[in-house]
Amino acid sequence: MASPVAIFGMGRFGRALAAALQSCDGGLVRIGGRGRPHTQKLALVTEPADFVRGLPKGCIVVVAVRDDALEPMAATFAALPGISHLQFVHTSGVSGPGVFKALADAGANTGVFHVLQSLPPENGHARVPGSYAAIAGPPDLVEDLRAVSRLLGVHAIELKPDQWTAYHAAAVLASNALLGLLETAGQILKDAGVPSAPQLLLPLVRGTLDNAEALDLTLALTGPVARGDTGSIRRHLDLLEGDARELYKAAMRAVVKLAKRGGKTPPEKLAEINRLLN
Ligand SMILES: NC(=O)c1ccc[n+]([C@@H]2O[C@H](COP(=O)([O-])OP(=O)(O)OC[C@H]3O[C@@H](n4cnc5c(N)ncnc54)[C@H](OP(=O)(O)O)[C@@H]3O)[C@@H](O)[C@H]2O)c1
Repeated sequence: MASPVAIFGMGRFGRALAAALQSCDGGLVRIGGRGRPHTQKLALVTEPADFVRGLPKGCIVVVAVRDDALEPMAATFAALPGISHLQFVHTSGVSGPGVFKALADAGANTGVFHVLQSLPPENGHARVPGSYAAIAGPPDLVEDLRAVSRLLGVHAIELKPDQWTAYHAAAVLASNALLGLLETAGQILKDAGVPSAPQLLLPLVRGTLDNAEALDLTLALTGPVARGDTGSIRRHLDLLEGDARELYKAAMRAVVKLAKRGGKTPPEKLAEINRLLN
């Protein structure tokens, strides 16, 4: 049986988590902070003091506010009476548990519950099941977060304090940088006057992701590097300029490493491609 949950901060994350918890009977007891309620079923409690008043012992208070608001928010909650029987987690992927020191000093259990997903402004709850979540905290809180994750259909991974920055850098590269790549690829198409940019790339990206999920990355890889096709890469480099060229070169160096790991492309071809890209 998972502990009850209260969520403070009704932005993208707070609304998505609230709706996901309600659709799996996940024990959501209160919502609060600024933002919009995700449903009419629970009223939004705006004042922190009213929000924590009467919450059951062991309740997990999920603080889903912007990263730079976490420390002041922790100080506000820590100054309230009777918070030591609650467990506070934030939802930032980079801050680690230390940002809730004020609450830990006040005797509360503190930790992190970061769902590794890009949540849209509406209906983000649909993306929650099947996602991974990075969690941290003392053992009893981690057990509680694992139980909540199971209810949500989320794969929980416990992170050590020194792993958060690497975890977040990797997540930003895989998600935000992918959009940067698409923006650049779309611009290359637009500059050449190709219609339907960047939409025509999206089924390709989806197919690539499906392959990456079903196969090892080395088997998912297609294209000129995997084929050892130096001529195509030379033509691309002749065309591209500026940031697009730099991005292409850096990304394709990573692709060369992947092809090397795959072991199917002749090493002399990969060495020649590497020379072009350096
Ligand atoms: N969006 C995602 O995909 C995603 C995924 C994983 C983790 N996260 C994490 O979740 C956290 C929240 O992100 P978000 O995307 O949900 O941000 P968001 O959409 O900007 O929502 C934050 C909400 O918290 C409210 N808030 C901020 N400071 C507050 C305060 N002092 N008192 C009361 N309410 C306050 C904001 O109200 P105002 O707008 O009025 O300030 C807003 O409603 C961040 O740590 C983020 O890293 C987000």
